[in-house]
Amino acid sequence: MIICSCNVLSDKQLREAADEMRADPNGKVPTPGAVFRHLDCRPRCGSCFPSVIDIIHEKSSERNEQTDARSVQKKRTASRSTGEGQ
Ligand code: FES
Repeated sequence: MIICSCNVLSDKQLREAADEMRADPNGKVPTPGAVFRHLDCRPRCGSCFPSVIDIIHEKSSERNEQTDARSVQKKRTASRSTGEGQ
């Protein structure tokens, strides 16, 4: 999903950039501005910053919970469409 419309940055790109910065022992703290610079972009309007902050500080456990919830939803949808479990 596109989070920053000024730079056309997705949540995935922002998350990966923050993870790369955290993994680098000499890397900078992943602030929104630092993440944008890491992606060779510059913040423009700044309206995406609240979402960017949420994404770059999202804990891996929260991501797993979201992924698990999506997997359960997909399985439910698939079983409904096949009539499985009825
Ligand atoms: S939407 Fe990200 S800087 Fe404008």
